Amino acid sequence: MERTTVRISPEDIARQREFCEKIQERLSAQNKEYLAFVDTYGCQQNEADSERIRGYLRDMGYGFTQDENAADVIVINTCAIREHAEDRVLGNVGALVHSKRRHPGQVICLCGCMAQEPQVAEKIRESYRHVDIVFGPHALWRFPELLYRVLTRRGRIFENAEEPGSIAEGIPVVRQGDVKAWVSIMYGCNNFCTYCIVPYVRGRERSRLPEDVLAEVRELVAQGYKDITLLGQNVNSYGKDLGLEMDFADLLEQINDIPGEFLIRFMTSHPKDASQKLFEVMGRCGKIAPVFHLPVQAGNDRVLKAMNRHYDRAAYLDKVKRLREQVPDVVITSDIIVGFPGETTPEFEETLSLIEEVRFDALFTFIFSPRVGTPAAKMEDPMPMAEKKANFQRLVDAQNAISAEKHAAYIGKTLRCLVDGVCQEEGYALTARTPGNRLVRVVEGDESLIGTFREVKITGANTWSLWGELAQA
Ligand code: 5AD
Ligand code: SF4
Repeated sequence: MERTTVRISPEDIARQREFCEKIQERLSAQNKEYLAFVDTYGCQQNEADSERIRGYLRDMGYGFTQDENAADVIVINTCAIREHAEDRVLGNVGALVHSKRRHPGQVICLCGCMAQEPQVAEKIRESYRHVDIVFGPHALWRFPELLYRVLTRRGRIFENAEEPGSIAEGIPVVRQGDVKAWVSIMYGCNNFCTYCIVPYVRGRERSRLPEDVLAEVRELVAQGYKDITLLGQNVNSYGKDLGLEMDFADLLEQINDIPGEFLIRFMTSHPKDASQKLFEVMGRCGKIAPVFHLPVQAGNDRVLKAMNRHYDRAAYLDKVKRLREQVPDVVITSDIIVGFPGETTPEFEETLSLIEEVRFDALFTFIFSPRVGTPAAKMEDPMPMAEKKANFQRLVDAQNAISAEKHAAYIGKTLRCLVDGVCQEEGYALTARTPGNRLVRVVEGDESLIGTFREVKITGANTWSLWGELAQA
């Protein structure tokens, strides 16, 4: 296959870095500390994007604050996946009118998936006049230029033209932690599940070059990162646009070969593309964490078809079986949508029976939310919300019982866990993660252990987490 992905040239990125320098010169001419506040909603991809926005801002000379009133620049990186997320963002953006009134030089930017939606951009243009810059994910790499234009000429900027999307390497990054790191390996999605807005706002699937991904992971390992998550809407189609022989399983194997003590995770996988080869690679590569997020969305074949998922219940169950054959203790998590248009309660009960059959370790559960521009938003949706909510509660109750049982089975085991932080709860010192990424509160231990792998004996469990103590080395 031909290489189809548009790559932003190094010269174009160098130009953006020049805008960073120009902004830095302007700021350093004033005898004042300039601050930026970056607020992130949504998924890990958005977290990763915000780390790049912070990278640019740092290079411009901004320090960081969590206080919107103290900020000279506010960047709100938004999520469009459900209406609830959008409403929260609009509420918070609306409230910023007050901080702008107190601080008229403040620049307010709205970016991310919501900013890419035409009707949202229009709403911001008409009703949120205190917002200065609106830019979608496609324009992120040009953020310095956009900010420079507003700082020098004022006026408002709207950059959300539709495009298939591009890949930009070499954007600076300020990471949020020093134990865990995100690495985007691809962007966009080609699947067009009928409920989902992502393909419309993030464009078509495009992969970073393997050498760029490997170089970033090598650098992270050298810097001491221990837990590296590879990100993409559908990581299992990695490389298809590159015209290379290599696929996602091959990429994982090459990352596994990088020397050092670290764990590799990845998300998200589409069941239709999760291959036997990938399961086998997971089974034999020691650094790949035994955890698999495999969104099923529904348990009924008619609903799966209406969602355009390209697998049926039997095919999904077969994947889970084959995954468990290769990785026996694998932690499996999933996403489920309750109340897809036309789903009946007997059909929903097939989702219940599927979760009883699979026994996921944890679930992310959502009530269907119609998204403007997606096919499902136009489908007949006769079920009353009260019935959807009742079904949703049945699902949550069923899963909570399964999660509690699964967690209880950890009690008495000693596992090699990654200590990842200080525990804020009384009675505990540290937090750690099992190989399968379950949270463990550790009763005693010194902060110097953060970022190390330790044997932890699990002594207790509930639905959501485990607790335990450091085992004698
Ligand atoms: N309504 C409800 N849930 C949705 N998701 C995606 N789009 C919608 C929607 N319109 C859920 C899916 C997906 C997860 C990230 O969000 O379960 O896997
Ligand atoms: Fe959305 Fe489906 Fe793509 Fe996931 S695979 S981002 S649910 S369209």
